[in-house]
Amino acid sequence: MAKKVGYNQRFLNLTIDSPVEESKLAYDEMAPVWDQVTIVTDLTIFPLGGKHTQPREALLVCTTKAQIMDNQGYKGHILCVEGFDRAVDSTEVFANPQKDIKILDVGAGTGAVGEMLKARGFTNVDALDISQEMLNLAAKRGLYKNFICAPLTDTRMEMIDTAEYDVVLCAGVIVYGQVKPGAIEECARFVKPGGLFIFSIRCDSYDPIDYGFSSTCQKLEETGKWRLALKEKRELHSNPVEERLRYCYLITYKVLQ
Ligand SMILES: C[S@@+](CC[C@H](N)C(=O)[O-])C[C@H]1O[C@@H](n2cnc3c(N)ncnc32)[C@H](O)[C@@H]1O
Repeated sequence: MAKKVGYNQRFLNLTIDSPVEESKLAYDEMAPVWDQVTIVTDLTIFPLGGKHTQPREALLVCTTKAQIMDNQGYKGHILCVEGFDRAVDSTEVFANPQKDIKILDVGAGTGAVGEMLKARGFTNVDALDISQEMLNLAAKRGLYKNFICAPLTDTRMEMIDTAEYDVVLCAGVIVYGQVKPGAIEECARFVKPGGLFIFSIRCDSYDPIDYGFSSTCQKLEETGKWRLALKEKRELHSNPVEERLRYCYLITYKVLQ
């Protein structure tokens, strides 16, 4: 009997021609595991079995070696919320943030970003995800106002208005083979002028020019759609199954028009 291929390997096999349904099925399968292993804390990955110092944010703690192995020590949610914190601390980047600003968590998964935003007092957050299984688990936490189960692609999502959101966060979602480069333009469309698009993207997806992610970002900059506020190379996985998965860019754009 053929051995069942695990979802981590199936993600690595995806290419730009893979149907979006393939990643949806893999994420549906991953949802209960992701829900258990995503680490929610600020900037610190706990030592195995270690004590956390910020209990409000450490609601889901990765405590066993097996758990860290399974999500590869993923930190995308922590990075993107750090990007958010840094932007709202700077009036030049984001003027006058109120706790009720409208935020969209794209690829929300089981709610790791939502959990951290809630701990900061942000109350008007919607979740979008391709996987209903992920959203079902997120819904149990009472973090989000509205749920949109749909794939982010390079085509227009009619259920989201242009300039509907003050901030769009997208942690660990935009990956070669899973999301098309044109989806970045769609995220830019969701954001109000003066608002933010904050995302992480693995370096092995962003750096190859022919994958189209970096050129799409640059095109939007050249046409005056947005201005770069932050781009840093950061560790995304502390325990990657392949070394090329270790680093990502944490990127913040301020949308201008
Ligand atoms: C690595 S998980 C990250 C989840 C969450 N953002 C976090 O940081 O914990 C990626 C999430 O993106 C979702 N996703 C993947 N491709 C997507 C797409 N094309 N459209 C919407 N969601 C997608 C998956 O279902 C999954 O929940």
